[in-house]
Amino acid sequence: MPIETAPFGRTKGGQPVTRYRLQNGAVAVDVLDYGGTIQSLVAPARDGRPVDVVLGYDTVAEYEANDGYLGALIGRWANRIPFGAFQLGGREYKVTPNTPPHLLHGGEKGFNAYVWQARQEGDRLVLSHVSPDGDEGFPGTLKVQVAYDLTPEGELTLTYDAETDKETVLNLTNHAYFNLNGGGDILGHELMIKADAFDEVDGDLIPTGRALPVANTPFDFTAAKAVGRDIEARDGQLAHGSQGYDHNFILAGRPGPAAVLHSPQTGLTLTVTTTLPGLQLYTGNMLGERAGKGGSRMGRRGALCLETQFFPKSISDPALRPVLKPGQKFRQVTGYKFTVE
Ligand code: BGC
Repeated sequence: MPIETAPFGRTKGGQPVTRYRLQNGAVAVDVLDYGGTIQSLVAPARDGRPVDVVLGYDTVAEYEANDGYLGALIGRWANRIPFGAFQLGGREYKVTPNTPPHLLHGGEKGFNAYVWQARQEGDRLVLSHVSPDGDEGFPGTLKVQVAYDLTPEGELTLTYDAETDKETVLNLTNHAYFNLNGGGDILGHELMIKADAFDEVDGDLIPTGRALPVANTPFDFTAAKAVGRDIEARDGQLAHGSQGYDHNFILAGRPGPAAVLHSPQTGLTLTVTTTLPGLQLYTGNMLGERAGKGGSRMGRRGALCLETQFFPKSISDPALRPVLKPGQKFRQVTGYKFTVE
């Protein structure tokens, strides 16, 4: 189906923002060129009722206030860079510590806060952006492109491509907050994550470098369980996440999906596949109460993020770190498939 476009207001700087609607089979996805934001994702519940399964806003101004990166593309670096500094090629780079003293999700003005160039290639929406050398302190002119495809089977895929003119680091993700009931909390959602270990964090949510086995901990999602089952457990790691999950899961690399989220209430299932090695489970522990689309309420534990990524700790580990060099092509793909029982 052709992509429908509609004006979505303007940024405070006066740039027009456009909403692109991808529709295929039973699923419809609205993407803004502002931040590549997935603004709405509607799938039919078991009873046929349409459910909007992502958090979002009705106005650009609310997105610009940026409390929570709702649905947005994240770059150049997903998650945190401790003390806003990293070593690369024998020198130190200082990046913006927008959540002092650390960088979070790209810096002061990350990819979420730019209006991207949009083009349509048949049924595919392609967003592109040029991040100049030194942007937020990161080296290299980075040309980045994210393609959004929606298959007849209800799968939204995001294909991330990038090139640089200087050696750099790059960790891109999307920050959609999912709630398969379209409201309320996500504690009754059942979640499977194919990970035998997760990265330990300190009180600043900075990885310590240690991977911990999930077995016999609240972090064991190897078999599907309710998100709320162990979330109140007395556990130092959950406490660091403001009593919730805010951790990188080390994907086991076994065949099949990285994660499966299911709502017994609506019968909807989200299946996540990815070429990336890690997945950040964030259960919205720090999401403040506020109004969203159409006056809907959102807040703490009202949705969860499944952010596919390189390990945040890799910024300090040359053996794990995603480095992009001139002449190389960066490509990662993540799929979100929506089905109903
Ligand atoms: C991080 C959280 C952070 C949130 C911001 C998540 O990806 O893991 O620590 O608070 O993004 O919305």
